[in-house]
Amino acid sequence: MADTAAWNTYSHQNPGRRHVNASGATTWFNWTQYADHGPGAEILDLAPASVVLELGCGKGGNLAHVATLGHRAIGLDISPPQLAAAAERWGELPGLELHNAEAVAYLEETDEKLDAVFSVFGAAWFTAPEALLPAVRARLRPGGVFAFSHRPAIEGCYGCQASYINRSEDEDPLVVKRWDYEPEAWEALLAKHGFTSTAASLIAAPPGPRKMGTLLVEARA
Ligand SMILES: C[S@@+](CC[C@H](N)C(=O)[O-])C[C@H]1O[C@@H](n2cnc3c(N)ncnc32)[C@H](O)[C@@H]1O
Repeated sequence: MADTAAWNTYSHQNPGRRHVNASGATTWFNWTQYADHGPGAEILDLAPASVVLELGCGKGGNLAHVATLGHRAIGLDISPPQLAAAAERWGELPGLELHNAEAVAYLEETDEKLDAVFSVFGAAWFTAPEALLPAVRARLRPGGVFAFSHRPAIEGCYGCQASYINRSEDEDPLVVKRWDYEPEAWEALLAKHGFTSTAASLIAAPPGPRKMGTLLVEARA
């Protein structure tokens, strides 16, 4: 069960995206934890005027970029303060829609046919794949892309893991569950749920002291 209180706490600790990136753009797509790094929206392979869903859109930076490309950009998130920040900054963009919803519940209730589904350090990381993957697959048009990114698994720590969201010194941290697998395990899980062209790979960290890359998982319905 997704933990709204924990994500609300996280929301208050995390500022939104910068207003301009290194190349002077006001919207952009970032799959990684590093600024100005990695591939962009081309991973989604979108035809003009596609219908795109983001799972766990948070403050909406990537979703906004998809809307500015001329697509219908639907974002869902379980955290009201995350969505409020997204609405305040991006709510007027044509084609952008925000829903306060849990990912699997939304996918099972909607009758939208989606051209692509994506998630960046979002609900695809924090939802049991056995529940999420069939729900995504059922809503994607044949050939539609499902892509998500997050930190790679720590060697030996696979399956459901605990993520801690710190609070004040007098309070215990809040805990959310995430699901970590090696790239080959993600590919097998996706194939088991009927996805094709599955590919999971590591985007290397940019040059500098930090070494942890980003896992990018891609598949087609
Ligand atoms: C680490 S944040 C990332 C937000 C955003 N994708 C970004 O890149 O800034 C994770 C987000 O996923 C949302 N989330 C976690 N589990 C979810 C679920 N099961 N359904 C919907 N949203 C969820 C949280 O509320 C939070 O906004």
